[in-house]
Amino acid sequence: MKTRFLILLLLTGTLAKAQNLLLIPDTLNGPVFNLNIAAGTRGFYPGFTTNTLGVNGDYLGPTLMVRNGDFVTMNVTNSISDTTTLHWHGLHVPAQADGGPHITILPGTTWSPSFQIKDKAALYWYHPHLHMKTAEHVTKGVAGLIYVRDNEEDSLALPRTYGIDDIPLVVQTRAFNAAKQFEVVSALDTAVLVNGTLNAYVGLPAQVIRLRLLNAATERAINFGFSNNQNFYQIGSDGGLLSAPVSLNRLMLVPGERAEILVDLSALNGQTIYLMSYASQIASGIYGATNTQAMGPNIITGYTSNPLNGSNFNLLQINVIAQTPGAISAIPAALANVQPIPASSANKTRDFMFSPLVMGPTSSLIGPFVINMMSFDMMMINDTVKLNDTEIWQLTNQSRISHPFHMHDVHFYILDINGVPPSPGMSGRKDVVLVPPQMGTVRFIAKFEDYADPVFPYMYHCHMLTHEDDGMMGQFIVVDSTTGVNELASSLDQNFSIFPNPVFSRKLNIKWNGAAIKYGSFAVIDMKGQEVFLKFVDITQGKEKQIDIGNIAAGIYTIRLKTPSGYYYQKLIVMD
Ligand code: C2O
Ligand code: CU
Ligand code: CU
Repeated sequence: MKTRFLILLLLTGTLAKAQNLLLIPDTLNGPVFNLNIAAGTRGFYPGFTTNTLGVNGDYLGPTLMVRNGDFVTMNVTNSISDTTTLHWHGLHVPAQADGGPHITILPGTTWSPSFQIKDKAALYWYHPHLHMKTAEHVTKGVAGLIYVRDNEEDSLALPRTYGIDDIPLVVQTRAFNAAKQFEVVSALDTAVLVNGTLNAYVGLPAQVIRLRLLNAATERAINFGFSNNQNFYQIGSDGGLLSAPVSLNRLMLVPGERAEILVDLSALNGQTIYLMSYASQIASGIYGATNTQAMGPNIITGYTSNPLNGSNFNLLQINVIAQTPGAISAIPAALANVQPIPASSANKTRDFMFSPLVMGPTSSLIGPFVINMMSFDMMMINDTVKLNDTEIWQLTNQSRISHPFHMHDVHFYILDINGVPPSPGMSGRKDVVLVPPQMGTVRFIAKFEDYADPVFPYMYHCHMLTHEDDGMMGQFIVVDSTTGVNELASSLDQNFSIFPNPVFSRKLNIKWNGAAIKYGSFAVIDMKGQEVFLKFVDITQGKEKQIDIGNIAAGIYTIRLKTPSGYYYQKLIVMD
């Protein structure tokens, strides 16, 4: 207790001297967005130069402004020396445009997906998603916000002047080493960055302010609240506005999760308050809480000595300044038309069990963690969902730490957490949900609409990026069972085999085991969906045929055999 109090004093003492004006990311408007991922440097600490990555800048990236219904093209150029990807977190887009681990952008190349914005007005974000490199690329600075607007949101009297009364806040904690370089895998994330600003302050007018909050930390939960303990109103969650504002004085967001809040500063002109994380109130078993029973003593190296764990700390100093003309002065009574999906409409229930790969008290806290006993495998489609099905996903957490679970493609509605229906703030459209530790359960429901692709998968994973990189991820394809029976064959077709796989030479044997003689086109398709090799083949049942695929680069490919009776798919790894 005494130590905690001292730490608290110390923190308040240091962080209260906020000295850097909060950076507000630039905005970009479409329909064509040019995003350049490049290396840079930033002087976070006087006298030190930190190596960073950023999008169109040295750290983080611009806020992309889009509207529901827009057709957009993203030109993403990879100017770093490492392969990467860029994922539109929360946007409902075709799997090939999703920017997951299969959609790699090689150094020096540009990836240009086009898609329609189908989501509701809310805060979304983008970040890299290369398997085993996500934490590194995000930690160094590749991430940015996406504002989606729509007619429903336009019709409400909400603050929407960017940077004035509508403030984007990307909250991250980071570990810097002695040379003030980013440490990627570490529990020493003692520095708080808001929009890439250390010790940030901002002047906000004495009126109703809208804060768009993103927890972009690698592992840490943030428990938002104000130092004067005033109430605020949650108006939005991950995928849209709520039906009505929810009055709160604490709001916890876990990694990947977003919320929009309104805070009324009209009585505070000339005063200073702090946006804080009340980590002392975070429940046991969540990264960021006090070291308590569920976490176990001293098991995550560096956890107990990290002054942020279990202590209340400042995120942003707010100096309240004079009101602006046309200020919003009231909290609206009602917001959006939210239509949760009833549990009775589900076609299918699917189970997901989180556990450490190897059982044990330490691994149960630090991992590596797996889903349904499977570590992520690029070549393995874990689940096949039928287009337009409504599914209930039941998540059970057998480990001692909570995991923020995230699903790509569509939004979901939480049915219950440990058997209890969600609070009003959690009742809207979501794409991240925290699954409590020690046999905690979550059930949610989602409808898999619009996009099917028999080859390119969507991901689901823990959004603690270290857990994700360590294999706590799976992938699902959405298949359209109405277009051609053989589309269902997906990537593991029993009738059609290729070998050796991986192939080192460029000579590939194919074999058809199905019922009839097959002929058709044999295509090798790269992860961007481009056919890099195409040849007409005829193969008799049970016979092998050797195909020389020429000078194809090493990588992961989809093999497509297109025949008069359907399509057959396999995955191929080509190695040098
Ligand atoms: Cu925010 Cu699969 O990611
Ligand atoms: Cu995502
Ligand atoms: Cu996790």
